[in-house]
Amino acid sequence: MQIPRLHPDTIEEVKQRADIVDVVSEHVLLRKRGKDFVGLCPFHDEKSPSFTVSQTKQMYYCFGCQAGGNAIKFLMDLEKRSFTEVVLDLARRAGVRVQTLEPEQRQELQRQLSLREQLYEVLASAAQFYQHTLRQSQGQRAIEYLRSNRRLGEETIQQFGLGYAPAGWETLYRYLVEDKHYPVQLVEKAGLIKPRKEGNSYYDVFRDRLMIPIRDVQGRVIGFGGRTLTDEQPKYLNSPETELFSKGKTLFALDQAKGGISQQDQAVVVEGYFDAIALHAAGINNAVASLGTALSLDQVKLVLRYTESKQLVLNFDADKAGTNAAERAIGEIADLAYKGEVQLKILNLPDGKDADEYLHTHTPEDYQQLLANAPLWLDWQIQKITKDRDLKQATDFQQVTQQIVKLLKNIANSDTRNYYVSYCAEILSLGDTRLIPLRVENLLTQIAPAAATYSKPLPTKREWSSRSYSQSPVPTGEGFANAKGDRSLLELAEALLLRIYLHCPEQRQAIMVALDERDLEFSLSHHRFLWRQILESTDEQVDLISSLQDRYLELSEDIGLVSHLFHLNEKSKKEILRTPQVIQAAIACMERVFREKRYRHFLELWQETDPDVAPERWQSYYQAFYAEKLRLQELDRQRQFSLTDLL
Ligand code: UTP
Ligand code: MN
Repeated sequence: MQIPRLHPDTIEEVKQRADIVDVVSEHVLLRKRGKDFVGLCPFHDEKSPSFTVSQTKQMYYCFGCQAGGNAIKFLMDLEKRSFTEVVLDLARRAGVRVQTLEPEQRQELQRQLSLREQLYEVLASAAQFYQHTLRQSQGQRAIEYLRSNRRLGEETIQQFGLGYAPAGWETLYRYLVEDKHYPVQLVEKAGLIKPRKEGNSYYDVFRDRLMIPIRDVQGRVIGFGGRTLTDEQPKYLNSPETELFSKGKTLFALDQAKGGISQQDQAVVVEGYFDAIALHAAGINNAVASLGTALSLDQVKLVLRYTESKQLVLNFDADKAGTNAAERAIGEIADLAYKGEVQLKILNLPDGKDADEYLHTHTPEDYQQLLANAPLWLDWQIQKITKDRDLKQATDFQQVTQQIVKLLKNIANSDTRNYYVSYCAEILSLGDTRLIPLRVENLLTQIAPAAATYSKPLPTKREWSSRSYSQSPVPTGEGFANAKGDRSLLELAEALLLRIYLHCPEQRQAIMVALDERDLEFSLSHHRFLWRQILESTDEQVDLISSLQDRYLELSEDIGLVSHLFHLNEKSKKEILRTPQVIQAAIACMERVFREKRYRHFLELWQETDPDVAPERWQSYYQAFYAEKLRLQELDRQRQFSLTDLL
């Protein structure tokens, strides 16, 4: 069968009316940058935005994967649809009258609407039917249940399109197939009816249930959840997997929540349909529900599109399967959390209540309060590890330390890891701050295999960098931390300094001066690169961070290693509040690295020199290495003093 060809005027008009920014915005969170918009590319995995949309050109382009084109191409690629399908869809939405080349082909065109389009239509019809039935006498008990048991107002019932599936075996079947003349296979494909084992008749999947439409991001019904009003099992019956509906890829209420999520830059994920509904009814409009399964990677990615700083709060029932419920619920996303690609918080409501139950006896403000105080996932884990333990007892202390080490090892970002090393060291020091440096060193040693991942050469003061030094034959003086721990500290120090530079303009001068005075350089290459860009950026007054991000885009440089420096989370905010001490500590750490090299170098020379042959040289080497040693001790004092201040 020949596909009818659209009239060029229709295509042109669609192109005119469908603005690319609107089209892309439905799928990607866009941020204005300069005259363009940027966001995370939907065609490949990325952490920092390289996907740009130009309103003036009506084109998009991804610097990461080179995907590009106009609005039509975007929808074709993203939704795997044909040119004609996309144009028709855009035409419908923009109210463009569709013309074909041959007028008689119009009807054919209608018939060839894709299967998906037809499924959307059937499901929308079913939703209407259920909504209507809720208002009939047969729906009496269901609407009573919503009003009294669930305490839902008319507005919420309407907002979520709640309905009722009558008790008969074929009511929906008769409505859709006999009255509305939808093909029976289509209704079956929509997951609404099933063939009987015998004979060739069909029966309704949902009978005598409260019906909750599940919608996609654009608000189209793609399936249903049906709650029993009796003790019947299962409590919730859900649509089977269909062409449109996949449980693991859908979040309930995302269509209602996406605006709230981007406004508040945070998403709340609950377990139950009614938890999400109750939250929206209470004005907490950034809530979605996971449909009762462990949260999948797809679901998380879906919701993270709408929050720029990737903040997710999991509010799962804590009581149901004991305290581990949330942990299992995290499923595949633990990995993302360890990598720092999602700022995950865990909210456990008091008395093991779910959100719906909680809101029956508490105000929305109470809930907001708990939400604001929800611990970060790692803090929550640490709380769990230390809960009901007596760290003064050797066994408890040992077990807790082991579990903490296991936890810390998994943290990919060394900045975050170092933060938690300090944090756990404080816990393990039981209030004795003098013990903290020791605990830090201990933890760093134990997690070292994971920590010592970079192979970049150790850094240097300029004049020393060109020479190579053997590390091994030199004795390690007392007061020297192990090299791996040092390297982590160094990375932490450099990152802190850069972060302060980026976020505290009033400290910039001080940092410049300090680095210059002591002739220091950043040692990690991605830090060095960033610093070079900072030094090269001229427009001091305009937004430095944003122009640096542009610069990375422009140079196609991997921004991933440093992008965490561009954003402040709560931890880094705290660090920054203590800037004078942090700057001092960071500078001390950096200086220490090259001082130690100098120390080793002079020590080596001294050892190699025969005092009888060259007494003066021998003497001056001795003085040189001894001076370095004193300086190192001084730096260690500064460093340790400031380390405790950092906490
Ligand atoms: P819960 O069993 O925690 O119940 O299911 P709930 O949401 O608190 O239910 P109410 O308050 O008694 O109505 C949480 C979610 O798990 C899925 C549903 O999405 C439900 O909202 N679920 C649960 C099912 O899909 N099937 C079931 O049989 C039970
Ligand atoms: Mn409940």
